[in-house]
Amino acid sequence: MRIAQIILFALSISHFAFAEKLDLKSLKKNFTRPKSIPYLDDNKYSTEREILGKMLFFDPRVSGSNSISCATCHNPSFAWGDGLAKGVGHGHKELVRKSPTILNLAWTEKLMWDGRFTHLEGQALGPIGSEAEMNMKMEGEGNLSDKIKGIAGYRVLFEKAYPKEEITNELIGKAIGVYERGVVSGIAPFDKWIKGNEKAISESAKRGFVLFNTKASCVACHSGWNFTDDSFRDIGVNDTDLGRGKFLKMTSQQHAFKTPGLRSIALRSPYMHNGSEKTLDDVIDFYDRGGDVKRESLAGEIKPLSLTASEKMDLKEFLLTLTGDDKPVTLPILPR
Ligand code: HEC
Ligand code: HEC
Repeated sequence: MRIAQIILFALSISHFAFAEKLDLKSLKKNFTRPKSIPYLDDNKYSTEREILGKMLFFDPRVSGSNSISCATCHNPSFAWGDGLAKGVGHGHKELVRKSPTILNLAWTEKLMWDGRFTHLEGQALGPIGSEAEMNMKMEGEGNLSDKIKGIAGYRVLFEKAYPKEEITNELIGKAIGVYERGVVSGIAPFDKWIKGNEKAISESAKRGFVLFNTKASCVACHSGWNFTDDSFRDIGVNDTDLGRGKFLKMTSQQHAFKTPGLRSIALRSPYMHNGSEKTLDDVIDFYDRGGDVKRESLAGEIKPLSLTASEKMDLKEFLLTLTGDDKPVTLPILPR
């Protein structure tokens, strides 16, 4: 009887260890990078379009004051954000939300903290025309397309990228969209580990990955290779911004914001839609205490996690493995 029990016990241990290994293997598969970048059918990739889009992205003449470009707030030196708690727009006025990164957005169908835009090509015209951001006239005399058409170098570039098409605001947005789709985070130590290099990340980071997927339940929202399920959730950030609830006029979505991807997250502080968490340690503490406000719209997954100090460290170690060896971005010489 005793021997049988011992054998059973030994079997169950080996079975458990085996099952755990298997799980980790299939779990890792969920984080494999995609093989190609999706483009819109009516706005396919070409080198000429990417070159043109990059110029427009970095060109401050796209703004009313000739002094603000997309890159002012989506700066590659800050992992395509601006390093500020809230963006600073036209007339140096502070915006109401943080400038998010534009990394890996080709795979997202709902853009902005509240999801009010559906694709990059259309979104680009939003900040250009917004009085608070780039304050550029979109219609009538001196509007965006006339201004760009008035620059001889751009006429040549548009003819190469979109032969025989008239330069309209919409076409300017399309070119910028092609460029943005190519803004993809580089291979990170995490990706090397996923591909089988066991030495690519530390043992602590590996434990952090398991915590991320189990006890800390981060994966409930931050899933897939870019660590987002594109959902909008209230995680209990303390402010009066109603987020997606205001946009959809739905109480259930109040205080819900876009789940950001976590690639290059170490370079993207401060965190959250209002920049209220300064460091990754602060973010982990925030989740550990179950957010800051208990309200009806709070996501069910957000509750105190009881993480130990070493578990918090492991989780952070894991997040640090998501920063890749992205190549420095060269600035384009702009057409005159
Ligand atoms: C003055 C700062 C500023 C400028 C200039 C600016 N943006 Fe933004 N951008 C923001 C802020 C702030 C948000 C988030 C706003 C919100 O969600 O309400 C944002 C959101 C975005 C998003 C959505 C990101 C996501 O994760 O869903 C994209 C894409 C984007 N901007 C692209 C651009 C492009 C292209 C330009 C130039 C045509 C541009 N932005 C100019 C500040 C700026
Ligand atoms: C219920 C869904 C959900 C869960 C669970 C969740 N997150 Fe988030 N996460 C979000 C949302 C939504 C935001 C943006 C919230 C905001 O700005 O108001 C966010 C923001 C973040 C940010 C800041 C990103 C940025 O660009 O500012 C980090 C870092 C982060 N989460 C890490 C984690 C970690 C680590 C865990 C597990 C301990 C976790 N998240 C669990 C949904 C979730």
